[in-house]
Amino acid sequence: MFADLSTEVAGLRLENPLMLASGILDENGYSMLRVLRSGGASAAVTKSIGGEEERNGYRPPVVHPPLQSGMLNAIGLANPGIEEYGHEIEIARRAGKPIIGSIFAPDEAGFSRLAERMQSFGVSAIELNLSCPHVKGVGSEVGGSDPVLVKRVVQAVKSVSSVPVFAKLSPNVTDLVEIARAASDADGLVLINTVRAMAVDIRARRPVLSNGFGGLSGPSIKPVGGIRCVYEVRKAMDIPIVGGVGGISGFEDVVEYIMVGSDAVQIGTALWRNGPGIFSSILCELEKFMEEEGYRA
Ligand SMILES: Cc1cc2nc3c(=O)[nH]c(=O)nc-3n(C[C@H](O)[C@H](O)[C@H](O)COP(=O)(O)O)c2cc1C
Repeated sequence: MFADLSTEVAGLRLENPLMLASGILDENGYSMLRVLRSGGASAAVTKSIGGEEERNGYRPPVVHPPLQSGMLNAIGLANPGIEEYGHEIEIARRAGKPIIGSIFAPDEAGFSRLAERMQSFGVSAIELNLSCPHVKGVGSEVGGSDPVLVKRVVQAVKSVSSVPVFAKLSPNVTDLVEIARAASDADGLVLINTVRAMAVDIRARRPVLSNGFGGLSGPSIKPVGGIRCVYEVRKAMDIPIVGGVGGISGFEDVVEYIMVGSDAVQIGTALWRNGPGIFSSILCELEKFMEEEGYRA
């Protein structure tokens, strides 16, 4: 039994501030259900869904896990398409916890269509993926680094949404604060997606990923990416940061994110190594830490 760490952030009621990040153990409804029922995770963000049709993504290899302090991926946003995925959300909702529908599209009309369909499946919020480092279009960091486009997408989705809308931004942009300001019509921000990166297979004499470069996640991105970005944005503007994300694998990381201005956090790569049990062990440690430091739940 955990202390009461419930919180309300950007219109979303959470039993604690730990959420599952997009793209990890959320390809289908049963994997999300497993994470949410394992205790500890208060909500799950779905895999990013783009369009009506299935999207295959890149050919293997699409992940490179042996990096010591992180993982490289260029999956190419493979997803089954919105209609197929509706069933997965229905399954995940059996956990009785908020499901946040992540979407990406080539333009604002596409984002709006997907947002409307996501809401019809009963999601509690929409997360706009404006930050993938290894695809093209508005759902990518390329589109997501254009403040005019970002503003248009956020406003278009807000105008068709009755649930909170979050914008997930990239660390790989020249001026993050400018993009965050462009996204300020959103109910909250999610910071960050993966950091653009590359690794070379020296025997094969080519990049390890079929796409060449990909996105780095895990512990190594926390100081250069997540913590830095949350701090910069929090200092510049007053908007809920619903997901400080990047490299969280222990309670200390969660505390760090909260101290620089995150209202809640998301965890991804750490699940590859530790499984869904990581949420409840972080919660236990967090509770102990709060008690030791004299914080009240
Ligand atoms: C295999 C993999 C797939 C991902 N897929 C998505 C995705 O579909 N949409 C998205 O917004 N972020 C995606 N991400 C990024 C994560 O949600 C998260 O922002 C990033 O990995 C940093 O957090 P972490 O270090 O806890 O993994 C993916 C990350 C990984 C490792």
